[in-house]
Amino acid sequence: MDKTILVTGGAGYIGSHTCVELLEAGYKVVVVDNLCNSKSDSLSRVEEMTGHNFQFHLADLRDMAAMQLLFKREKIDAVIHFAGLKAVGESTEIPLAYYQNNVGGTANLLEAMNEYGVKDIVFSSSCTVYGAPETLPLREDFPLQAVNPYGQTKLTIEYMLKDLAASDADWNISILRYFNPVGAHPSGEIGEDPLGIPSNLMPYITQVAIGELEELSVFGDDYDTPDGTCIRDYIHVVDLARGHLHALSKLEENPGLIIHNLGTGQGYSVLDVIKGFETATGKSIPHRIVGRRAGDAPAVYDDPTLAEKELGWKAELGIEAMCRDAWNWQQRNPKGY
Ligand code: NAD
Ligand code: WQD
Repeated sequence: MDKTILVTGGAGYIGSHTCVELLEAGYKVVVVDNLCNSKSDSLSRVEEMTGHNFQFHLADLRDMAAMQLLFKREKIDAVIHFAGLKAVGESTEIPLAYYQNNVGGTANLLEAMNEYGVKDIVFSSSCTVYGAPETLPLREDFPLQAVNPYGQTKLTIEYMLKDLAASDADWNISILRYFNPVGAHPSGEIGEDPLGIPSNLMPYITQVAIGELEELSVFGDDYDTPDGTCIRDYIHVVDLARGHLHALSKLEENPGLIIHNLGTGQGYSVLDVIKGFETATGKSIPHRIVGRRAGDAPAVYDDPTLAEKELGWKAELGIEAMCRDAWNWQQRNPKGY
């Protein structure tokens, strides 16, 4: 394999796991990241784990000159585009920064790709583009509706990619809509390292388990679900990372624009995740039911059949592996990287 993949946001949580899978599959990798939400240690760990070195460009996607220079210097065959800001709450406070970074950064990246004739891209979208679902499980052809600025940037980028594909048949674009990525590489060398107090469930649980945080607040137990807590489709980050390799292979068939959900199809409630974590790790998680969190949908889970049919990809790791690997990472790196 002598293909070179540019991984934007490769130092981040999902990007670093995807770099491992790419390098292990024999791809060459180039990473661009501005480290606004990550540390370069993740990249050193990827090199140590895989025994492969790769080029790292410390650059911002919003810097057009830097992007052009990157494409001039490196011979890139395809791009996996993770770089973006992802905190839903923050996006409601500083929406323009989200548009500038996510939409503006992506527009720059696409311009530079176009200029250098690189027209294969896999894009990190999110289940958030379905808004608050009325019908479950979520299929790719369901109506789209963003309910916060972060989601709006993902939706805007999806439309930008559709327009681009319609304008030029040479473009091959895979939009992957992730559900809730959790867990870590089973080695415990790389994992999720949120800045400050985590807003997502699994990193909050592991920080309670390690004693960094006192107890978990469960946001609402009066939803119309079997135990009253919200249901989500958690997916192991290694399964998710592997999905990107399937999408890359699919792009070689020149499919134009394709869209797939990446989830397990299996929903777990907040209380299921707590129990699953306690069973997988033997650690008990002190928790207390508090009021609902604004903007939470009662249940979100996907129909994974299209990805299996068209990409030949299916999630293989269950909730036990997700909890075990998240905890292994946290124990080996109590303060993150
Ligand atoms: P992350 O924050 O860990 O990784 C994103 C990386 O992009 C970081 O290393 C950050 O420094 C970098 N970055 C951000 N803006 C940049 C810019 N302008 N130029 C260069 N680098 C930049 O996030 P993640 O969880 O790995 O998510 C990766 C992608 O997947 C994001 O686009 C996110 O929106 C999407 N996504 C994530 C989730 C999730 O729950 N983690 C779910 C659905 C979709
Ligand atoms: C999961 C469940 C909470 C924390 C987010 C983004 C979404 C996508 C994935 C990027 C919910 C409950 C949480 C806590 C809790 N990201 N919870 N106590 O909200 O499903 O999705 O990440 O695209 O766009 O919104 O994930 O991990 O925050 O919450 O009870 O301290 O856990 O209410 O039901 P969410 P989450």
